[in-house]
Amino acid sequence: MARINLKRLKNKAKKEIVKTQNLKELDKLFKKYSGKRGELTSILRSLKEMPKTKRLKVGRQANELKEFLIAQFDKRAKFLKDKSEKESKKKEWIDVTLPGEKILLGHLHPLTQTRRKVEEIFQSLGFSVIEGPEIENEWYNFDTLNIPKDHPARDFWDTLYLKGGGLLRTHTSPVQVRFLEKNKPPLRIIVPGRVFRHEATDASHEINFYQVEGLMVDDKGKISIAHFKAIIEEFFRRFFGKRVKIRLRPSFFPFTEPSFEVDVSCPICGGKGCSACKNSSWIEIMGAGMVHPNVFKNSGLNPKDWQGFAFGMGMDRLAMVKYKINDIRLFYSGDLRFLKQF
Ligand code: PHE
Repeated sequence: MARINLKRLKNKAKKEIVKTQNLKELDKLFKKYSGKRGELTSILRSLKEMPKTKRLKVGRQANELKEFLIAQFDKRAKFLKDKSEKESKKKEWIDVTLPGEKILLGHLHPLTQTRRKVEEIFQSLGFSVIEGPEIENEWYNFDTLNIPKDHPARDFWDTLYLKGGGLLRTHTSPVQVRFLEKNKPPLRIIVPGRVFRHEATDASHEINFYQVEGLMVDDKGKISIAHFKAIIEEFFRRFFGKRVKIRLRPSFFPFTEPSFEVDVSCPICGGKGCSACKNSSWIEIMGAGMVHPNVFKNSGLNPKDWQGFAFGMGMDRLAMVKYKINDIRLFYSGDLRFLKQF
């Protein structure tokens, strides 16, 4: 009786297994035979009530059937899995008309763009780009530039002093001396870099900003203010993309003699008057002059042999005029609404 039952069970299970169409159905079927209340399980459970000889025989056959069924289930499970994978692959397709994912591109900060442009123009005019330390000492930041300890000009360039005698440089001018000490003229350099001031910030003042220093030195009598004017006019023409007039106003710097302030005709309104030039039609853009004899002396050069000009302009100011930016603090705000415009 049991034997017939097992055979029938085997055939029934075999048929049912191949009929299943997915893993869920298969799982249900497995439970029907081998689950807690499964047909095969209950046969196995009833073994203990059978007489010993029958129990041995039926037990062996039932266990064989169990193993057989497990193998059948595994086989079917693998088949169904493969089938559903193939089907879902068939269903998968790419809609080429969908818009692509937008990749956000960063770009250079407007001050970096400005510095690169300045460097490019001066390099094409034969100037080398030199750098100097942001942490200076009194000797280079002041004394070598003809600003001794008791000189009131130190107030102009008040700075942040560090322990141990260092200070944050207030201008790029110390690099004039650093370079002249090590390099024999004739020479032409620009020095772009970050500078620091003891400053109450407002729309046109920051505690740190960028300058570019210029220095051109040659034999005595060879370099004049006329050379300076021509070079700087050419620089502005290329930087602003149009011819601008420049004006030299007498001024004072301890490290140049004579000294002057350089204004450009307002490139925004072209001289008609606007808010950028405060209706004066001129914008002050740099300090300059002929290198003071004491600067040569402090660099180990004889002022009787050499002559040249130096200038220093604010890179931030250049960028503000070019891009019509009315507040220097925007450069350092990290505000993407501002930065994305360049
Ligand atoms: N170092 C001066 C400043 O920071 C600018 C300057 C440079 C003036 C070179 C004359 C010559 O204001």
